[in-house]
Amino acid sequence: MSKIKSIGVLCSGGDSPGMNCAIRAVVRSAINAGLDVYGIQRGFSGLLEGNIKKLDVSSVGNIIQHGGTILQTSRCLEFHEADIRKEAAHILKRKKIDALVVIGGNGSFNGTYALHSEHGIPVAGIPGTIDNDISGTDYSIGFDTAVQTAIDAVDKIRDTASSHERTFIVEVMGRKSAAIALHVGVCTGAENVVLPSDTLNIEEIAKDVKRGISRGKNSSIIIVAEGEKEGLSHRIREELKNDHGIDSHVCILGHIQRGGNPSGIDRFIASGMGYIAVKDLIKGEKAIVTAYRHGEVVTVPFSECLEKKTDYLPQYINLVKTLSI
Ligand code: F6P
Repeated sequence: MSKIKSIGVLCSGGDSPGMNCAIRAVVRSAINAGLDVYGIQRGFSGLLEGNIKKLDVSSVGNIIQHGGTILQTSRCLEFHEADIRKEAAHILKRKKIDALVVIGGNGSFNGTYALHSEHGIPVAGIPGTIDNDISGTDYSIGFDTAVQTAIDAVDKIRDTASSHERTFIVEVMGRKSAAIALHVGVCTGAENVVLPSDTLNIEEIAKDVKRGISRGKNSSIIIVAEGEKEGLSHRIREELKNDHGIDSHVCILGHIQRGGNPSGIDRFIASGMGYIAVKDLIKGEKAIVTAYRHGEVVTVPFSECLEKKTDYLPQYINLVKTLSI
């Protein structure tokens, strides 16, 4: 028998398409099992402010198709402090919330796990970030939609690039993660992808563009993963112009990639993750993450999902380069 009578749910970090599907799944699975469920607004910041309300079945009606998160989210840096987590644990106890589901990325998971380790609160993490860079899971909610959004944008840019015989440098999100850039590079037939782990090699980019032109291509697309420092795409444009006489245009896709209706894949996986998170907390699990492994949603120990994957799929660079000759 479960000792848990109520569950809280919050989103933390950057929003990602599919978070609403996960919230809906958590709320309805919990209610179906006879639990009370509380929505915590604005992530850990909202928890510390006591911004908490009881949710019912209809609170999550008609949200499955919407991007963003009805609970809103925040990046709560103070949650790295033990005193602040202690305060959060008190608030949860005072509000009689027995377990917490956190939908977010790597930073949020670290705070969540610390909350559990220090105060014994049962927690479940649901991976939600477009970057798909959480260790221990092959997938995080929002990635597929973000990739598709970026592909749609690059396809449109390609129209102009071919009409005007131009080179475009398109920067995609992902911070230290190369996942979006590599997928978009493969799927748009990009001439080159600049990864966050690479040392910038302008010679090689210029060689790829020139080779394309000499074999009759009338456009080139270079996908750049944003990395940690702003300005990389503009630096590439300047160096291509100054050192190789290649004119190019920069297009930074930015937050467009975080919005929009979640894809079928995101809705499906998010729904499964929300459902299994609640099911396993009720079973008595204390610290789990809903991971996607070998095509299935499973739960794994929280400790397996605390790192950032930074070397994800770099071998795909060869695929991009081979197919774009
Ligand atoms: O982690 C998701 C992400 O979209 C990254 O790809 C990006 O670097 C970052 O968040 C942007 O964060 P913010 O919206 O807080 O500027």
